[in-house]
Amino acid sequence: MIFAKEVGESLTYKFAQAAADMRAHGREIISLGLGEPDFKTPQYILDATTAAMNEGFTHYSATQGLPEFRELIAKDMNTRFGAEYKAADIVVTPGIKPAVFFALCALLEPGDEVVLFSPYYVSYPAMVKLAEPQAKIVNVALDAGFRLDPEKLRAAVNPKTKCILFNNPNNPTGKVFSREEIDLLVSLAVENDAWIISDEVYEKLVYSGGTQIGIASYPEIRDRLIVTNGFSKSHAMTGWRLGFAIGAHNAIVKINKLQQHVNTNTCTFIQKGACAVYTHEPDHIAPYVDELEKRIDYFHAEINALPYMKAVKPEAGFFCFADISASGKDSNSFCADLLQTTGIASTPGIAFGPEWDSYVRFSFAVPMATLERAAGLLKAYDPRT
Ligand SMILES: Cc1ncc(COP(=O)(O)O)c(C=O)c1O
Repeated sequence: MIFAKEVGESLTYKFAQAAADMRAHGREIISLGLGEPDFKTPQYILDATTAAMNEGFTHYSATQGLPEFRELIAKDMNTRFGAEYKAADIVVTPGIKPAVFFALCALLEPGDEVVLFSPYYVSYPAMVKLAEPQAKIVNVALDAGFRLDPEKLRAAVNPKTKCILFNNPNNPTGKVFSREEIDLLVSLAVENDAWIISDEVYEKLVYSGGTQIGIASYPEIRDRLIVTNGFSKSHAMTGWRLGFAIGAHNAIVKINKLQQHVNTNTCTFIQKGACAVYTHEPDHIAPYVDELEKRIDYFHAEINALPYMKAVKPEAGFFCFADISASGKDSNSFCADLLQTTGIASTPGIAFGPEWDSYVRFSFAVPMATLERAAGLLKAYDPRT
């Protein structure tokens, strides 16, 4: 391996693995580390996929993905955002991660700058490094309310910026960017001829009263926009490995070449089964979001009642990013101690950016009873002693 391409292990998996090892030795573990919905994949998708297997969708598909699946994705995006995407503007990938990685591989050249907003999704810096070791990451830290500081953003985006990569709603904060924030982002990208890669995996999981603004609704950026999305979180399909990149045709052509040489195609019967996502009423989503909102209302209140932790309330998704500075511990020591003392697995804030070493991420994609148990243990725990 070329040294410049060496990347660290994912800290989300480090603590999840430590927790799994402790569980294997008989310890009760409350897993609030990984972001994996506890819900079941909707039955209509299971049925459609089983049918697809029986109907013989067990061979290669077109490398970009099954045409009927891509037609449905394009239609959905065009209806919602007034865009004019075609099936040819999409590559279906095994999960969202490869879609983001291939997008970076397609765009980046040595010396390019990539703007990330910190806290960022844990894999983005590693993906940039692997896609183009000589690209420079420019980190824009969000403020304590997880808002974008317009001055910091203006200072970061310049003609050397090849792309701005972010996820909205955000993991780990649960923050949804406002219209003003997206307006500014788009106008700076347009002014500087920069691309935007917008990872919108949590778009369907916005709590009541909130709205996520899909960036594909801005026509002025569409010729330098790649949206990545998928079904892992909204349809509880993490293990299926299904996602896609949709965007400017010249970038999609390059992404398809990467797909041809790396994956060939995404599992054919899974693509066929997932057509049901678009042809069936998405009636599981509203109850799922209601349940997540109930959990975060509860868990957020419990966290804020603790003397050593406080958190901004998430607006979407299933993570809470809590400030632990009052504990006196850095995020790795806090997570290690919390795991040893209480059996609660969490993720250290440092995984999401150098500025967040006094934060910890909790996932509340677990049943309410598990959260109640966790809240009881957190109440009895005091990292300051
Ligand atoms: C922002 C973001 N993007 C991508 C992913 C990965 O999605 P997938 O499992 O579909 O590759 C995650 C999962 O945690 C995520 O939070």
